[in-house]
Amino acid sequence: MQHLLSVDDMKESFIFDLWSKASDQKDGFSDVLKNKILTNLFYEPSTRTSSSFYSAMVRQGGSVIPINNVKFSSAIKGESLEDTIITMGTMSDCIVLRHPEIGSVDKAAKVSSVPIINAGDGEGEHPTQTLLDGFTIYYNHKKNIDNLRITMVGDLKNGRTVKSLVKLLSRYSGNYFNFVSPKDLRFPQDSIPKKSFETDKIENVIADTDVLYVTRVQTERGSDHEYSLSTEQLNLLPKNSIVMHPLPRVNEIPRDFDNDPRAKYFDQMIYGLWCRMVLLEGIMS
Ligand code: NCD
Repeated sequence: MQHLLSVDDMKESFIFDLWSKASDQKDGFSDVLKNKILTNLFYEPSTRTSSSFYSAMVRQGGSVIPINNVKFSSAIKGESLEDTIITMGTMSDCIVLRHPEIGSVDKAAKVSSVPIINAGDGEGEHPTQTLLDGFTIYYNHKKNIDNLRITMVGDLKNGRTVKSLVKLLSRYSGNYFNFVSPKDLRFPQDSIPKKSFETDKIENVIADTDVLYVTRVQTERGSDHEYSLSTEQLNLLPKNSIVMHPLPRVNEIPRDFDNDPRAKYFDQMIYGLWCRMVLLEGIMS
């Protein structure tokens, strides 16, 4: 069975094959997932990820059981995650799981009769976000994801998207990371890549950046900073750089930057749909 719990589960050939198929999905509607059912099991809020999986499924002729509000599921009656997973495995062909506890997806995979896709486990990982983040870089940077200067800003301690993306990008030679955060929201020191630099001042690194990856402060995980980049700061970025954000954005990037050609954060959502279409087809058809 093909679970997708971590970036570690994705080999290089799998990723590049998925990306090469993803750009063919542009106007895609098909019935390759006809008679297939996906469970979207979300114990944490989601707009993009859950809708993206939903749309990817429906565009390929499949159906979705959306459990987006566990308040109305048996979880509220005290049912364990494991029992819920066994239940949904009898009703569907694959389960997309988002859960506030790190490692919850491993517990789920142990008992599941169908593939589990990790859509975010606490401050752990978010591998399908990495598929679309990596695709965004690949698609906008001459089909390459190496020899880049990547600047990551925000809550690097609690954000799961940065951890998964760093895992992927540090596989490729020549990638160099700048981590910009307040001291108490630093990237976990035990997994910091060798080729990296840490600072709390964006001005130290913004002009030496190919990819700026901005994240939100994860208030739901106890972080309590506020920050925003100004248009003046963003304009220090090189002309051919790109600006990414997994979204939701709070105040990190001013709206007047949205029409700048370097802003790719809304494109990322489209890429996510394409990548998830290919992923679901690969897992279920
Ligand atoms: C991210 C997440 O849930 O980790 N959102 C997303 O899936 N696009 C980022 C976040 O919530 O800050």
